[in-house]
Amino acid sequence: MCGIVGILGKEAVADGLVEALRRLEYRGYDSAGVATLEEGHLAICRAEGKLKNLTHKLFRHPLAGHSGIGHTRWATHGKPSERNAHPHITKRVAVVHNGIIENFRELKSELEGEGITFRSDTDTEVVAQLVDREMVRGAAPEAAVAAVLPRLKGAFALAFLFDGQTDLLIAARKGSPLAIGFGDGEMFLGSDAIALGPFTDVICYLEEGDWAVLTRAGALIRDESGQVVSRPSQKVAAGSLLVDKGNHRHFMAKEIYEQPEVIGHTFGHYLNLDTETVNLPELPFDLAEVEHISITACGTALYAGAVAEYWFERFGRLPVSTDIASEFRYRETPLTGKGVTIVISQSGETADTLASLRYAKEHGQKTIAVVNVPTSTIAREADAVLPTLAGPEIGVASTKAFTCQLATLACLSVALGRARGHLSEEDEHRLVRAMMEVPRLMTEALKLSPEIELLSRTLAKARDVLYLGRGTNYPLAMEGALKLKEISYIHAEGYAGGELKHGPIALIDETMPVVVIAPHDRIFEKTVSNMEEVAARGGRIILLTDPKGAAAASVDAVQKLILPEMPATVAPMVYSIPVQLIAYHTAVLMGTDVDQPRNLAKSVTVE
Ligand code: G6P
Repeated sequence: MCGIVGILGKEAVADGLVEALRRLEYRGYDSAGVATLEEGHLAICRAEGKLKNLTHKLFRHPLAGHSGIGHTRWATHGKPSERNAHPHITKRVAVVHNGIIENFRELKSELEGEGITFRSDTDTEVVAQLVDREMVRGAAPEAAVAAVLPRLKGAFALAFLFDGQTDLLIAARKGSPLAIGFGDGEMFLGSDAIALGPFTDVICYLEEGDWAVLTRAGALIRDESGQVVSRPSQKVAAGSLLVDKGNHRHFMAKEIYEQPEVIGHTFGHYLNLDTETVNLPELPFDLAEVEHISITACGTALYAGAVAEYWFERFGRLPVSTDIASEFRYRETPLTGKGVTIVISQSGETADTLASLRYAKEHGQKTIAVVNVPTSTIAREADAVLPTLAGPEIGVASTKAFTCQLATLACLSVALGRARGHLSEEDEHRLVRAMMEVPRLMTEALKLSPEIELLSRTLAKARDVLYLGRGTNYPLAMEGALKLKEISYIHAEGYAGGELKHGPIALIDETMPVVVIAPHDRIFEKTVSNMEEVAARGGRIILLTDPKGAAAASVDAVQKLILPEMPATVAPMVYSIPVQLIAYHTAVLMGTDVDQPRNLAKSVTVE
C-alpha cells in the first residue's frame, strides 16, 4: 500500500524523505515521488518503478529545501506511471495520499465544470485541486484543508505541503494510519513508526478523523468536529524500528529463521511454564458462555484462522465458521447473541478485516483481535486484543506473523476447551508441554533448508504445483500454495486431500509436482491413498512427513522431507517452516523480487 512521509527539517530534506520511503518499501509500491519547497516554492521529482529510479533522477536534478513530503504509490486509480505518481501539485499545494477517495468522480466533474484541467488519472489530484480552489477563493492553508476534508468520502491518509509556507505541513487521517514524529526543532510524518526510525522514536498516532497542523514547534491536532484534542505521544521500542536483514539475503529469509525465537516470545506471553497452563489476558466476556465463533481475516491470516477452526471445534466443541473478510462484511451474515468474532491481522489495518470487525460489533458480537501491530486500528477497536509477538514483519509474504498467529490461536483454543469443560487439567498440561517444544522443533525443521534448496530446482521448472493436506494440514496446503504463487509467480493450488478426485486429479501428469503435507496422524492412511492416485498418473510427489510417515509411505516417485515426530496440534506451526522454505528457495531460483513481489502490498488498506 502507499506510504507517506513528511519532514520539516533543519537541513535539506530530500535525502531524508527518500530514506524514510525506503523503510516503507516493504508495503509494496510501483512508483514514488517527493516534493520540497525550493526557496519557498513547490518543486517535485517523481519516477515510475522502484526508489532507485527516483534516486537516479534526484542525483541528476537534486531538490533543495528544508520542508518536504514523499510517497510510494501502489496504484489503484490510474496505471503506475510518472504522471500518476504522487505528490500531485497545483500552484499552491502538493498532496500525497494513501487510500481511496470514493467520490472522486463526482468531485472531479464539479471541478472540470469550473474549467480546471487534470494532469493525472488519480483520485488524489481532486484533493489538490479542491484545496487549491479554496485558496484561490482566499482561504489560508488550514482553512482550505478544513473546508475540503468533509467533502472527501472513503478511507485515506493525506499530507499537504504549501507553496510559500516553509514551516507548515498538514496531515489528515480517516481510515489509513498516520504517525507524527517529534524531533528537536524538527517534525516528521510517516505512515508508520518504522518510516521515522532514522529521525525520532517519539511518536504520536492520529486517531480516526483527526487532522493536524505541523510546524517545527510541534503539532496542533483536531478531531473530525474541529475540536483541538491531545493525543498521547509514546517512545517506540528501539527493536520495533529496526529494519535490517541481518546476515540474510532477504527479509523473508530473516523472518523465516526468526520463527523459533518469536514463537517462543508469543508462547511465553500466554503460557505459564511452571504450572503448565494457558494464561490469557482478562477477556471482557466469559469463554464458557460463547455459543458460536466467527473467524474472519484476509490472505495468510485467513489460513491461520482456518487452522484454528479445527482446534476450536475439537477442544471447545462449539460451532465455528471461518470467512474471507471481504465476503463476511457484505454477506449479511446472521450473528447470534452469544457469538464471538475473532479477526486476525498482522498489520491490524487491512480494510476488509477492519470492516468485518465493525460489522460484528454492530451486530452485537464480542470481538477479539489477534494482531501483530498493537497500535493498529483493529487493535484499538476490538473488545479484546491478543497480540502476536512476531516483531515487525517486512517481507510482503507473511511468515513469522502466521506462525505467531497460530501460536496465539492455539493458546486461545486450549483456554476455550478448559473454560467449556471439554479439556481436563491433564489435557491442558499435555498441550502446553507440546507447545513449549515448538521453538526446538522449528529449529530442527530449519535444518531442511539445504535439501529444500536442491528440491526447488525441480519446482522452479513447474508451471503449476498442487498442495494437498487433510485436517489442519489442509489450510496449511492452501497457505503453501499462496506462498509459492505470491513470491515465485508459479501457479499453485491448495486442496483437501479428499477433494483430489473431484477435480485437481485431472491436472496431474509427469510435469506436475504435488506437495503433500502429511505427518503420521490418524488419517495418514487416507493421504497415502491420495499419493497412490497421484503416482499412478505419473505425478511427482514431495512429501512432508515424519519418520513414521516416511516408513509407511510406500509410494513410488516420492521425495521425502522428514521432520521430527510431534503432537498433531503443533504440527501446523512446525510444518509451516518447510512450506515457507519451499516457496522461498523456488522464488530465489526464479530471480523474483522476494520481499516485494510484483503487484502485492504488505497491508491492503483499500477494499
Ligand atoms: C496482504 C499481504 C499478506 C497478508 C494479507 C492480510 O495480502 O500481502 O501477506 O496475509 O494482506 O494482511 P494482514 O495485515 O491483515 O494480516
